[in-house]
Amino acid sequence: MRVIAVDGPAGAGKSTIARLVSAKVGMPFLDTGAMYRGIAFAVLRDGVDQNDADAVGQLARLTELVLEDDALWVDGADATQSIRSAEINSVVSVIAAHSPVRAEMRDQQRLWISNHNGGVVEGRDIGTVVFPDAILKVFLTASPTVRANRRVEQSGGDAVHIAESIAQRDHLDSTRQDSPLMPAEDSVVIDTSEMSIDAVIDVIAQLFKDAESRQVQR
Ligand code: DC
Repeated sequence: MRVIAVDGPAGAGKSTIARLVSAKVGMPFLDTGAMYRGIAFAVLRDGVDQNDADAVGQLARLTELVLEDDALWVDGADATQSIRSAEINSVVSVIAAHSPVRAEMRDQQRLWISNHNGGVVEGRDIGTVVFPDAILKVFLTASPTVRANRRVEQSGGDAVHIAESIAQRDHLDSTRQDSPLMPAEDSVVIDTSEMSIDAVIDVIAQLFKDAESRQVQR
C-alpha cells in the first residue's frame, strides 16, 4: 500500500505539512488524531467513564466515524469543530492509551487506506505500528516553545496554559504501554523549529520521490 507516515508530537506541524504533502503528491490525507478525538467526543456525549478501557473500547466499536477531507462526522453528527475543544484535548490522550480503543482505530485506519488506495497518514504510531511497511516514514519534531506558539497562532488562547496542555499530552502519549509516541527505526526525523513550511514540504517530497524510485528498482 502506498503510504506516507507522518508522526510526531502535538504542534510539530504534522497537520499542516501532511495536508500540503497530500496535495503535492496527489494522495488522500488521513488525520488519525481526529479519529481518537471523535471517540473522545462520543465518550463525553454518552457520559462514559474515560478511564474504563473496556467501556470506551466498546463505544469505539459502536461509534460510526466518517472522515472526508477536513470534516469528521460522529454517528451522523458534524463534530469537525467540537473535537478541537479544550475539553476534548484533556480527554483524548487518556482514551487513546486504552488498547481496545487502539485496536479498533488501527483496523479502521487500515480499512480507510485500503478503500482509498493509499494516503498520507498523520498520527503518533503510524510508522511504528499501523503501517510499518509505509514507503516513507517521517517523524516531525520542534522545540516545546515553538510548538506551543504555533498552537496559539492557530487557535488563540493563553501560551502558558497551552504549553502545559501539550506537555501533559506528550507525556501521556510517550509513556503509554500500547504503541507509544516514538520515531520508527527507519523514519527520517525532521526538526521543523527553524524551517519554513515550504522547506519541510520540499524535503518530504524529495524523500518520497527517492523512496518510490528505490521501490521501482527492487
Ligand atoms: O494529533 P492530535 O493532537 O489531533 O491527536 C489527538 C490525540 O490522539 C493525541 O493526544 C494522541 C492521540 N493519537 C494517538 O494516540 N495515535 C494516533 N495515531 C493519533 C493520535
